[in-house]
Amino acid sequence: MLQDIEYTLVSQKEIEEIVTKIADQINADYANSPKKLVLICILKGSVMFTSELMKKINLPVEMDFMKVSSYGSQTTSSGIINIHIDIKRDDISDVDFIIIEDIIDSGRTLSHLVKYLSEKGANSVKTCTMLDKPSRRTVDFVPDYCGRQIPDKFVVGFGLDYNEKYRNLPFVGVLKPEVYGG
Ligand code: IMP
Ligand code: MG
Repeated sequence: MLQDIEYTLVSQKEIEEIVTKIADQINADYANSPKKLVLICILKGSVMFTSELMKKINLPVEMDFMKVSSYGSQTTSSGIINIHIDIKRDDISDVDFIIIEDIIDSGRTLSHLVKYLSEKGANSVKTCTMLDKPSRRTVDFVPDYCGRQIPDKFVVGFGLDYNEKYRNLPFVGVLKPEVYGG
């Protein structure tokens, strides 16, 4: 597995720093909110980031899951968003949602989900991403919380996959282009 990685882009230590930075921001921003705080983990890529982040949130917080896909090749996204697993709640108007993503590319997934949850009647919807590739945007989208911006490289690890593999790497690395024929 490690032989497929060109170099480490975000180390384990830096991921920990990102998690702490964002948790501190969320702890401050929602300290006085009377509504329920719910993190929505976007399956599968955000599982590790969401769990680490949640451990450092010192406010009452719930966790929910959505699974979405945007059809395209393995290394680019198409922009057509399908919801495979949705939240089921009858208290949406009482909830402040924070959608947790592993990485933002075109921006379509998160801009679609913000609209979707807002139209369902959420009290508020914010977005949080561990990594962001701003140079890849096809829609105007800026996350509320962002761990770190990265260049336009295909990365894997800490939840991020290529063909369902490499999610278990404890750091984020650049995949050798020959592995995906790039
Ligand atoms: P967007 O809708 O184009 O912003 O797509 C974001 C989604 O694309 C992420 O949740 C990932 O599933 C996937 N993605 C984008 N870039 C990468 C990458 O470098 N490695 C692995 N997955 C990626
Ligand atoms: Mg993903």
